[in-house]
Amino acid sequence: MRQKSLFRKSHLLSAPKGVLLYGPPGCGKTMIAKATAKTAGCRFINVQVSSLTDKWYGESQKLAAALFTLARKLAPCIVFIDEIDSFLRNRSLHDHEVTAMVKAQFMNLWDGLETDDNSQVMIMGATNRPEDVDKAILRRMVATFHIGLPNASQREAILRLILEKEKIEDDLDYSHIATLTESCSGSDLKEICRHAAMTCVREYLATIECDDDYGDLSKVTEDNIRRISTKDVENSVQKCRLQFMHHKS
Ligand SMILES: Nc1ncnc2c1ncn2[C@@H]1O[C@H](COP(=O)(O)OP(=O)(O)O)[C@@H](O)[C@H]1O
Ligand SMILES: [Mg+2]
Repeated sequence: MRQKSLFRKSHLLSAPKGVLLYGPPGCGKTMIAKATAKTAGCRFINVQVSSLTDKWYGESQKLAAALFTLARKLAPCIVFIDEIDSFLRNRSLHDHEVTAMVKAQFMNLWDGLETDDNSQVMIMGATNRPEDVDKAILRRMVATFHIGLPNASQREAILRLILEKEKIEDDLDYSHIATLTESCSGSDLKEICRHAAMTCVREYLATIECDDDYGDLSKVTEDNIRRISTKDVENSVQKCRLQFMHHKS
C-alpha cells in the first residue's frame, strides 16, 4: 500500500484486498492490524460485528453499503473486522435469511474493491477460529498470518515492554518470569503485571486506612507505593494461572 506506484501498470500486481490474522486470543491481532494501518499511513476503521448484523433487514444492507462508501472516502484505509467468523459464519441450516443477504451483499461490495485497482481499501479480518470462517470469505483473504502464542524470549520482550514505565525493582528477573509463564498470551502477561502492580497499591492503601479514617488525604502520594519485585510478579503468576486455566478450558 505504501509503494502503490510499483503496482500501477500491472493488472496482476496489487496490494491484497483481504488479509486474515488468526490465532489464539490476546496475542496481538488487533494490535497488529492497528500497527499495520499506522505504518502504511492508512486510516483504520474498526468494525464491530454486531453493528453490521442489525436485526432489521434493510438496515443491515444500508450499514454494509455505508461502510464501504466510508472506507473509499477515507482511503487509503484498512477495514478491520474482528471475529470475522461470527459475522460470516459457515452457511448452515440455521443461517438466517437476512444474514445470508448481508453476506452476499458484503461479498459484492468487497469484489468491487478487487476490480477497482485504485481503491486503496483493505479488509483485514481476525479470528480465533479460522475453521469457522466462511469458505467464500477465506477465498478472498489471499494473505493469511498465524499469530501464535509468544515463546519464552518473546514473553520476556513483552514483559519488558509492559513494565517499561512502571515502578519496578532494579533487579527484576524478566527471564525467570518468562519461563514461569509458559503458554501465556500477551494479554495474559499484561494481566499478570497489572495484578502485581495493584498488589503494591493495595498494600499501601491498607496502611493509610489503618492510620485514620480517610483523615489527611494530602499525605497520600504515589511516591510511597513500593516498587514491584520479582516475588510480586511470581505471586501474580500463581494467582492468574488459575484464572487463565479457567478461561482456556
Ligand atoms: N505481542 C504483544 N506485545 C505486547 N503486548 C501484547 C502482545 N500481544 C498482546 N498484547 C497485549 O494484549 C492486549 C490484547 O491484544 P489484542 O491485540 O487485542 O489480541 P487479539 O486481538 O489477538 O485478541 C493488547 O492490547 C496488548 O496490551
Ligand atoms: Mg482482538
